[in-house]
Amino acid sequence: MARVETSSSRPYHLVIFGASGFTGQFVVEEVARTASEGPKGSLKWAVAGRSKQKLEKVLEQAAGALSKPELRAEVDIIVADVGEPDSLAAMCKQAVIVLNCVGPYRFYGEPVVKACVENGAHHIDISGEPQFLEGMQLNYSSQAAEKGVYIIGSCGFDSIPADMGVLYTRNQFKGTLTAVESFLTVSAGAEGGCIHDGTWQSAIYGFADSQKLQSLRRKFNHKPLPTAGTKLKRRGALFYSNELQQYSVPFMGSDPSVVKRTQRFLAEEYEATPVQYGAYAGIGGIGNIIKMLFAGMMFLFLVKFSFGRNLLIKYPEFFSFGMFSKAGPTRKQMEASSFQFTFYGEGYTEEQDTSQGKPNAKIRTRVQGPEAGYVATPIAMVQAALTLLNEAAAVPKKGGVYTPGAAFAKTTLVDRLNKHGFCEHLLICITGSENCGELHEMHLFLGKSTSAL
Ligand SMILES: NC(=O)c1ccc[n+]([C@@H]2O[C@H](COP(=O)([O-])OP(=O)(O)OC[C@H]3O[C@@H](n4cnc5c(N)ncnc54)[C@H](OP(=O)(O)O)[C@@H]3O)[C@@H](O)[C@H]2O)c1
Repeated sequence: MARVETSSSRPYHLVIFGASGFTGQFVVEEVARTASEGPKGSLKWAVAGRSKQKLEKVLEQAAGALSKPELRAEVDIIVADVGEPDSLAAMCKQAVIVLNCVGPYRFYGEPVVKACVENGAHHIDISGEPQFLEGMQLNYSSQAAEKGVYIIGSCGFDSIPADMGVLYTRNQFKGTLTAVESFLTVSAGAEGGCIHDGTWQSAIYGFADSQKLQSLRRKFNHKPLPTAGTKLKRRGALFYSNELQQYSVPFMGSDPSVVKRTQRFLAEEYEATPVQYGAYAGIGGIGNIIKMLFAGMMFLFLVKFSFGRNLLIKYPEFFSFGMFSKAGPTRKQMEASSFQFTFYGEGYTEEQDTSQGKPNAKIRTRVQGPEAGYVATPIAMVQAALTLLNEAAAVPKKGGVYTPGAAFAKTTLVDRLNKHGFCEHLLICITGSENCGELHEMHLFLGKSTSAL
């Protein structure tokens, strides 16, 4: 059986690897902010990366931002490089959990997972790259299980809101939930917003290599998941969403892959009815469609050639119409940004057979939170780690490679996220929970039409 130990032989509960990265610096701040939520009210932690000077600077900056000058002296620094396996092993031996912020994960992720498995450290990442996430599942599931190590991927904005949101929707539904569609919108303040270059690079290489994902999936030899209830129809590549009252497109991130893996795990492990899932994102009006078509066509063309990829990497702002930048968003932009997922679910009430006729009940839930990449992501990642540290009995018994939903379905992760939203930020607020003030929007419309929602 796996154990999540805060053993005295491991000096740190958490080691933040890649702490000097754009996202890593905010993970450092979030760990410092939530240290009292560790086991027995405290948390031992360190920062790690390949440059001691950069890590010192990150601690200095966090000390200033949080008015905690003690961080400079109290937080240890570990120098480790992905290219030096011994340094990774030494880092992993000291950690109960490695919070890995070094990406793109397709290039840098596997050696860290391997070192964690071999040296008995649990691993939490914020990858949104299905090829990396599924590849780790294929290659390390059995070794991680043998060692009692938990490798939990996609614990950031990709894909905690979607994965936990679908589970939350299923748990609130009185009957059998059979399908969910999610619609994502993001908003920014007067100064706009953008995403840091690190994610842009992960997306470029992910698209360039997308055929490999299909052959990787065949290696699992999975049987198709049984479909309960009416088959969920896929929407088009561009459509007007009555739900959002704006044009929408299929969501290109890791959410569909992660949710599907979670649903498969729950079906195989607990005989739960798998929920079919479709993910969409609102893009607004005609002006945005034109921009998106232009940028999308250019991206899909350039991403095929190494010359094109170099151009995309060199000029992120130009090729993404300012959506991605090398500098990343400012703190002011981050404070004014937010995201919102609305989940539209359908299914069958308790007395209704899922094999007879159409679904007879609908449900709508919502997950909303602050700026996705560098506020919500660090909170989600750190809360995932704290859940693993504090609720060892509620995660699956065996170690392995897990999605957030598979690892945390039976924990209080959603409550923890809600608590944080209520206390400090307008955060991942699953509507219907006690802490969401006037945002209660959880409805079960039995036999009513969606227009009522
Ligand atoms: N799930 C989500 O929603 C979400 C949100 C944000 C970010 N992300 C992902 O997180 C990853 C990081 O993004 P970012 O914007 O923070 O990127 P970034 O600023 O480029 O940070 C990359 C980090 O990796 C480190 N690194 C690179 N090569 C290394 C090596 N050989 N050994 C050790 N460390 C190495 C860098 O160290 P140096 O500082 O020394 O260069 C830096 O700390 C990306 O994959 C991104 O897609 C996901």
